[in-house]
Amino acid sequence: MKVLVTQVIDSVGLEALKRAGLEVDVWPGPGPIPRDELLRRVSGCDGLIPMPTDLIDDAVMDAGALRVVANHAVGVDNIDLAAACDRGIVVTNTPGVLTDATADLTMALMLAVARRIVEGHDLIRGGEFYGWRPTMLRGMDLSGATLGLIGKGRIGQAVAVRAQAFGMEVVHHSRSGGLSLEALLQAADVVSLHCPLTAETRHLIDAARLEQMGPHSILINTSRGPVVDEAALVDALQAGRIGGAGLDVYEEEPRVHPGLLSLPNVVLLPHLGSATRGARRRMAELATENLIAVLTQHPPSCPVLPESP
Ligand code: DGY
Repeated sequence: MKVLVTQVIDSVGLEALKRAGLEVDVWPGPGPIPRDELLRRVSGCDGLIPMPTDLIDDAVMDAGALRVVANHAVGVDNIDLAAACDRGIVVTNTPGVLTDATADLTMALMLAVARRIVEGHDLIRGGEFYGWRPTMLRGMDLSGATLGLIGKGRIGQAVAVRAQAFGMEVVHHSRSGGLSLEALLQAADVVSLHCPLTAETRHLIDAARLEQMGPHSILINTSRGPVVDEAALVDALQAGRIGGAGLDVYEEEPRVHPGLLSLPNVVLLPHLGSATRGARRRMAELATENLIAVLTQHPPSCPVLPESP
């Protein structure tokens, strides 16, 4: 049986695939596999391990003889789940193993924006540190501030634990309860997004919602870029309608809205949420375990159903 892996993943995963006796084709990169290569290489494959950067739609599914798409990510917005279901293709993901890494990165962004870490770093590198000043680069007090979580799944909950340790009050808005979105946006000093990208959450944070946030508030996004209307965010930041933003994800990755690049109160990371050695190793293990399970007629640990992404 043949398997396509669309980027080089941790070697534990590739070794597991080989031990299972699978023929393995790995796109060597650099960068995401081009669409035409994906369509060409998937042909004749029984299994596919894609990255969140790969759109897995009808065309890809029809090009291969796929029995399983084992996403190397927890988010599955890159996969047409209904199309997979129609074809009897099992879809799996990697929940749980990247929770702490992503929650840590969320805190890193929150601290970086609130305490103006990058501005301070740039000031030193620019040779402009002339000594301690009582008014230099004052930021937000996190202790006593309110964190508004949008989405309270595994990652949202892990962020809540960390934020509480920093003395923050945590409120949330999610499908299962909490504050209304409007009340959360009005109450929160920091708004952090932890919801999956779905038709309902696309542009959830748009111009009107940004308007409901306070002029000193900070928006953190480590979920998916399209949850935020990036053009509206740039307008809100430029006009001072919100105080800052920390972003790990973008509407059209790898493109970043040019307006974000020059704003001092914005910290930008290149989709690093799960980028720790441990998380990436466990993601590779889990994705390959899921794939091997399906190809050997066993139930995978992390099946994704169309109605429960
Ligand atoms: C995911 O798993 O969905 C992340 O975005 C990649 O770590």
